[in-house]
Amino acid sequence: MRIVLVGPPGAGKGTQAAYLAKDLVIPHISTGDLFRANISQGTDLGKQAKALMDAGELVPDEVTIGMAQERMSQPDAEGGFLLDGFPRNVAQAKALDEWLSAEGRKLDAVLDLEVPEDEVVKRIAGRRICRNDSSHVFHVEYSKPENEGVCDICGGELYQRGDDTEETVRTRLEVYHTQTEPIIDHYKAQGLVSTISALGKVTEVTERAMAALQADKV
Ligand code: AP5
Repeated sequence: MRIVLVGPPGAGKGTQAAYLAKDLVIPHISTGDLFRANISQGTDLGKQAKALMDAGELVPDEVTIGMAQERMSQPDAEGGFLLDGFPRNVAQAKALDEWLSAEGRKLDAVLDLEVPEDEVVKRIAGRRICRNDSSHVFHVEYSKPENEGVCDICGGELYQRGDDTEETVRTRLEVYHTQTEPIIDHYKAQGLVSTISALGKVTEVTERAMAALQADKV
């Protein structure tokens, strides 16, 4: 399956993507994670992305679209993928449509995670991420690691993302409403969108997501 996950910052896209990608046996492709990997490796792309990410603004489309296409072209993504954080505006959505059509492929579903803004702020404020692997995500209250500051999965150090400050979160939410939300209508016109509540336990949200994806397949 080729799936796009959409939702505000902190909705739980990365958390859900880890479970869904495992269940569906497709790679989880997060443009945010790809940028963060470039930042930690000190690449030119990482240098270009860092200031924008710290400010909560989008990285330019020319850079992002090329990076996403390169990742989607890798052999492990041939049978499908789960996109998290891409596309993030209508221009990126149109570029994805064109790229898929040129490849003779299409999207199967767009899963829209709905969560109230006050919950998003709580989730982001308490989020902690592993330095070794950004798919290892914890929360100081909702998903506590056994030992404070240490990843349960690999023992790596947990840290708080540079863009998880109160001020940046406000900008990220505004960018989400003005630039990203319009992609939901873009995909509704293609009959691809399933909206689910992202409230409740992580496992409950995963069940809801899987049920919506199964319904899309029928
Ligand atoms: P990106 O990394 O994509 O960040 P985001 O969209 O803001 O989303 P987050 O990673 O903040 O949240 P999430 O929904 O994944 O939540 P999570 O699962 O971690 O992008 C960062 C930046 O990169 C952008 O601002 C931009 O600058 C740049 N960028 C990326 N892609 C781009 C693109 N396509 N174009 C241009 N620029 C781009 O969960 C959050 C917390 O909640 C965690 O602590 C988790 O444990 C907890 N949690 C999750 N689910 C639950 C639950 N059900 N109950 C309780 N707690 C929960």
